[in-house]
Amino acid sequence: MTAFDFDQPIDRHEVPSLKTHRIVLGEGGERLFAAGVADMDFRVAPPILDALQRRLDHGVFGYEAVPEGLMPALQDWLSRRHGWRVEADCMLRAPNALNALAIATSLFSAPGESVIVQPPVFFDFYDVIRENGRGVARNPLILRDGRYEMDFEGLEALARDPRNRLLFLCNPHNPVGRAWTREELDWLSGICLRHGVLVVADELHGDLALPGHTYTPFAALGAEAADNSVTILSPAKTFNIASCCAAFTIVSSEKLRRAFQAENSRLTVNKNNAFANAAMEAAFRDGEAWLNAALDYLSGNLDLLRDRLCDMPGVSLIEPEATFLAWLDFRALGLANDEHHAFLRSEARWALTRGSSFGTEGDGFMRLNFACRRERLSDALDDLSGALARL
Ligand SMILES: Cc1ncc(COP(=O)(O)O)c(C=O)c1O
Repeated sequence: MTAFDFDQPIDRHEVPSLKTHRIVLGEGGERLFAAGVADMDFRVAPPILDALQRRLDHGVFGYEAVPEGLMPALQDWLSRRHGWRVEADCMLRAPNALNALAIATSLFSAPGESVIVQPPVFFDFYDVIRENGRGVARNPLILRDGRYEMDFEGLEALARDPRNRLLFLCNPHNPVGRAWTREELDWLSGICLRHGVLVVADELHGDLALPGHTYTPFAALGAEAADNSVTILSPAKTFNIASCCAAFTIVSSEKLRRAFQAENSRLTVNKNNAFANAAMEAAFRDGEAWLNAALDYLSGNLDLLRDRLCDMPGVSLIEPEATFLAWLDFRALGLANDEHHAFLRSEARWALTRGSSFGTEGDGFMRLNFACRRERLSDALDDLSGALARL
């Protein structure tokens, strides 16, 4: 029994939630199990709600400085939860993670160069790269015995090419759920250092390592890795506050940091709004008990998913080590991408994220967001089981 109620039904239609919105689900979407967009259906931690309420009650929303407690709360969080000590000077604020990714791309690579990615990977990586006029250099992950691994030989070959100066690391990896080990990250770091490739580590899902697994911050590997990287962090996924729009960039190298700061101020994207600041400070300072309970609940949902899927023909689970995202392999159904998306939608009433949106390596897969009420997940699994039996 926990002090937090993750089983509480919350109607997400009361606000224009993207996950349940027709721009994502299309017409008739209300009857679907909305398990695409990567946020949680849970009410946020009480200390966050209290902090937002206090800020609202104050009633004046004029210009304000960064709350004094914000950076120390984040530093304490990183050191307490992940054993990672970060100097306050190295932390830069950002409105959101994609913005920081875009700045890193335009600053640290040149037009005509390419950014290395390891597909299947978070689809917005491709958009950021292309919209900044860079090419995509693909080093597909390898699926071996139901677990994804990095292809270090492929990576070294791409890193050797002087046109590839940047790598986007997704740690833990959306959508396949790997929490990369220290050894794997050390290999990657060694390759990038040898060939002068800068690592942009998107670690938004770092706090969401599931029980029994560990998140290793890339920059915590050591001074060389820290100096050869830009890390992007945010409370958005951890505390379910994506719409508060707040993120951080951690840049240890003074040279890179100065460049980043200058670009942030040129674009005037170095501010967060008062509510984002209040939510973040409360989350990192007082949100730990809620997060631990949420991770336990997610782990229970994953147990349910695993138990039920193993009896269903045609679908298998790629076990996530972190994130609330499950990568489901539907290739055994033998359907084309559009067909299996249509089948899931019309027969099982499931709206997931198409695997193909993460790269062609995702053909035949779907990404399921299991951060929902357990009862809802269970009903949805009944629907899927029925649909597969009828197929
Ligand atoms: C790995 C990863 N990076 C970035 C984002 C987007 O973050 P933001 O909304 O802060 O731009 C997401 C959202 O799903 C994500 O999964």
